Amino acid sequence: MSPLKGNLGAVLCVLLGLLVPELSCQADKSPEAEAAFLKVRLALMKNHYRLLCNQFASLALNCSAPPINCTECPDGWLQVEDQCFLLSSEKLDFSSSAGKCKDVGAHLAILTTREQHVAVEKEGRRIGGFYTNYWIGLSDAESEGEWRWVDKSVLKTSFWNVHKSEPDNNTSGGPDGEDCVVVDSYTQSWYDVPCDFLYPRICQKAASPLV
Ligand SMILES: *[C@@H]1O[C@H](CO)[C@@H](O)[C@H](O)[C@H]1NC(C)=O
Ligand SMILES: *[C@@H]1O[C@H](CO)[C@@H](O)[C@H](O)[C@H]1NC(C)=O
Ligand SMILES: *[C@@H]1O[C@H](CO)[C@@H](O)[C@H](O)[C@H]1NC(C)=O
Ligand SMILES: *[C@@H]1O[C@H](CO)[C@@H](O)[C@H](O)[C@H]1NC(C)=O
Repeated sequence: MSPLKGNLGAVLCVLLGLLVPELSCQADKSPEAEAAFLKVRLALMKNHYRLLCNQFASLALNCSAPPINCTECPDGWLQVEDQCFLLSSEKLDFSSSAGKCKDVGAHLAILTTREQHVAVEKEGRRIGGFYTNYWIGLSDAESEGEWRWVDKSVLKTSFWNVHKSEPDNNTSGGPDGEDCVVVDSYTQSWYDVPCDFLYPRICQKAASPLV
């Protein structure tokens, strides 16, 4: 079965299921078909949740009902998958930037997917203007040449600037070489830079569940 056909079947099934709740239209009981079915249902329910949540929120303003959050990320944070990202404009060194992220219950960005990398460099380009480099939570300060994220996990998927042969541990910025990493929204790739350089940062934390 083609994925398209599978999704179409799932959509139809969900739409029919809305009209006739007891209807069970999973003639094809393969796990793939069931997963596609649930995925579509989940997407519809999320949309429905958001709609009701917004209605509740505006109504709650007019009475004494306690407020609730309708979004998964705090205001001003960018949501990518199940993660929230915040790009600052304040320029600090790597460790101070890491501390600032901790202050808001977050950590410097750990970009483990292309989607996350693309989303934050795009946002950097959108808001950054002249300043295009943002700290992410990657460094080899603890053990030279071994790149680790701030949660100590080993770097797997990377988006180094390969045209510039990054990471190059260039000592022109200082005798200690380059142990910390920025995402450069201009070249849409990563550079290693000295940890005491001053850059704005990208903080990250997990999105809170919808309900
Ligand atoms: C809340 O109150 C304002 C002012 O009384 C009113 O205009 C608005 O329609 C109310 N909102 C809801 C959702 O009832
Ligand atoms: C909504 O989310 C914000 C940011 O995560 C949090 O500070 C606030 O306490 C939440 N409010 C409620 C009512 O849950
Ligand atoms: C980076 O440069 C520093 C200073 O020259 C050196 O101590 C370090 O071993 C270099 N790291 C790598 C991975 O080459
Ligand atoms: C280091 O950076 C300087 C200044 O940007 C540059 O001229 C030099 O070619 C770089 N060295 C390497 C090995 O990339």
